[in-house]
Amino acid sequence: MLQIQNLKTEESLLLATTVVSLISIPSIYYFFNNKKNGKAKAAVKQEKEFPKPTIVPVSDDFDWEKQTPYPYRPYKKGPYKMNLAIRKLDPNDIICIEDTYLDRVTLREKLFDEKKLSGFHESALDSLKETYRFIFNHLLQRYPKYFTYSNDKKTIINKIKESSVPANPSDLSGNELLRIIASNIEEDMLLLIKNNDEGEPDEYVLRASTSLFPAGFNPAQKMNLPLTKIHTPVPHYVEKLQTSMNKFFSRIKPYEFIIRNNWSIQTHTNLCAPTGSHATKEEATTIHPLYPQDLDFNKVFFRVEKQCFTRLPETGSDLMFIRTYVTSLMDLRGSLTEEEKEILCSAIDGIMGDFAIYKKRIQWGEAAKAFIMGESNGSNPVKTKYTFVS
Ligand code: HEM
Repeated sequence: MLQIQNLKTEESLLLATTVVSLISIPSIYYFFNNKKNGKAKAAVKQEKEFPKPTIVPVSDDFDWEKQTPYPYRPYKKGPYKMNLAIRKLDPNDIICIEDTYLDRVTLREKLFDEKKLSGFHESALDSLKETYRFIFNHLLQRYPKYFTYSNDKKTIINKIKESSVPANPSDLSGNELLRIIASNIEEDMLLLIKNNDEGEPDEYVLRASTSLFPAGFNPAQKMNLPLTKIHTPVPHYVEKLQTSMNKFFSRIKPYEFIIRNNWSIQTHTNLCAPTGSHATKEEATTIHPLYPQDLDFNKVFFRVEKQCFTRLPETGSDLMFIRTYVTSLMDLRGSLTEEEKEILCSAIDGIMGDFAIYKKRIQWGEAAKAFIMGESNGSNPVKTKYTFVS
């Protein structure tokens, strides 16, 4: 009796297992196949949306010494609004060679050796090598007049600098990679990698940078920090930018190219400015507005950053380039129509509240407006060209 019962139990178990298998094998197959198909479909969709771009070489008559810097003028009439303000970027323009190139890369090499502003985390080594290949492939394709392989293909020759760099970055150390990147393009480079550490914010973290032209912060102190912590001194960052910024860095795709600008005015003559561009609320109590007659407006600069973003296709890291443009207010005033001057003055007035302190508008705002509107010519009315040495 017991045996018969056992037999029945075994039979029913077998039957049940067979039924379950018959139902689940196709479902498992369907599940995995569908997942695979899903991934493949997503890849095809992404490739359609963001195909690998073809970089177009500059024309034969291109002469880097005749390329005046692109005149970004991102200010708008009325109150300053802090938002992403991102636009699509033509991939040809992610790294540009303009007439400032040789002076700037020479200065960058000196700054790299003298100041400890660049750095990397070990986890960024592969991303740094991919960045190196990205940069030099771009230079070879976009500027074949100035960047070519040597006969044995082992080095890439930079004809403007009259120097060469290894074609293959595989055996280079992190510091060698940073130094070569820093001293062959005018752009600062920043690499961000998603934070996977438990207990840490679910944000992208700065893991490598060659920030040699910082405006008001010490890049070494930003290394290994997530985006929100990097932006701690920026007023209203958490309410106004945090969510959209984190989404942006999570969603940007390989071969998607994005640009944004920010701008300010500086009364010092440093491209490399870890201090001097920003103020805190405590410092604001001792800041006095500057008088226009005390300022040489050949040495007061409208400073714009061209910030470009993409995702590296192999390592998946986010890559950012920052190209800093500086135009003396003397030159800027000479290039603007009366209407454009009014817009700039309105934009200066539009930097209000905590931002007026952070961007030091409380110090330079009135003097800059007086000069722009021609109410003052400053301490030196004669136009001169300032050469940056730091
Ligand atoms: C869509 C991307 C980004 C937006 C919208 C953004 C926005 C801003 C804004 C509005 C400021 C205030 C500066 C000013 O206007 O003068 C700022 C400052 C700054 N940003 Fe970003 N940012 C972005 C990406 C990044 C990334 C990727 C990094 C570095 C990994 C970075 C590093 C900094 C630093 C170091 C400062 C100065 C902070 C200080 O004063 O210490 N930003 N950013």
